[in-house]
Amino acid sequence: MGENGNEKAGASSYSDVNDPRAVISRSKFLTGATVGLGGLLGVAIAVPAIGYVLGPSFVSEKWYWTNFGPADSDQFKEGEYQPVVFERGELGELDRRVAFVRRDGAEEFTIISNTCMHLGCPVQFKATNFACPCHGGQYDTEGIRTAGPPNRPLNRFEYKVENGNLYVGRPFATKEVDGKVVMTDQFKLPGSPTTGLLSWLYPTP
Ligand code: FES
Repeated sequence: MGENGNEKAGASSYSDVNDPRAVISRSKFLTGATVGLGGLLGVAIAVPAIGYVLGPSFVSEKWYWTNFGPADSDQFKEGEYQPVVFERGELGELDRRVAFVRRDGAEEFTIISNTCMHLGCPVQFKATNFACPCHGGQYDTEGIRTAGPPNRPLNRFEYKVENGNLYVGRPFATKEVDGKVVMTDQFKLPGSPTTGLLSWLYPTP
């Protein structure tokens, strides 16, 4: 028998508040354990999801400038698109791309990617529009979608003219603003919207 005579009862209920074992009762322990476990599970689910959404924003793609040759070359005609096949980066022909180059001025160009913004098939330029052979996606001469399933204009490449040569860099997603194509500062995969609330939900790869 202890000082206050509660030893026997305390062995099962810890009703003696002076007994250190009574500091955490069974129910409190179970509540705490449940909350703690729930919290751990929440973190285990949330961290990978947040990492998937935000992670790509912290990974940068290597920056390559590809020399397309003299900017005043006859191959780049004013008002006409010229397809240029080029290899980009260290993968050589495994990273082969096609750009449609149109001269807009002495050192001004419009350079459109041939990747369809529906599922990524290669579009072709046909006289007055870009057409996708896969599901009938159509774009006008600026790359703005006019028909079919694509949800945004064609990507455009950044470019610069240096020492008389035309250099083509990274492709960027575009959006249509008041009937004009505006380049964003992000690359987005086909199918990812660039306007509206949904554009925030698609990660930048
Ligand atoms: S991939 Fe071009 S329309 Fe579907």
